[in-house]
Amino acid sequence: MTEQTHSEWLPVCAQRELAPGERRVIAAPDQDILVVNADGVILAVANQCSHQALPLDEGSLDGDLITCPYHNAQFCLRTGEALSAPAYEPIGCYDIKIEHDRIFVAATPR
Ligand code: FES
Repeated sequence: MTEQTHSEWLPVCAQRELAPGERRVIAAPDQDILVVNADGVILAVANQCSHQALPLDEGSLDGDLITCPYHNAQFCLRTGEALSAPAYEPIGCYDIKIEHDRIFVAATPR
């Protein structure tokens, strides 16, 4: 999960501030990024559903799955894969690194 190849990392928050099931939206140059603590694993995806480009951050979480709050498409937070209609295209995934107990997200998708 951790890569050192990104030229820009964006600060998210301290690890203790993102408990399991919690989320943060981080503004990135291209689009907002949704950072989620999925049962203890920090994952990050584009905060934009591939169905109608609406934000995902109010969606319900179930482990590493998120359900879009608008028309219920589901996405894997690990791979970005669209798992159910009406979304068919994947969403971008972003690398995470943790340094000195602080979470950072890559500014560009992997
Ligand atoms: S905008 Fe997400 S399912 Fe329609």
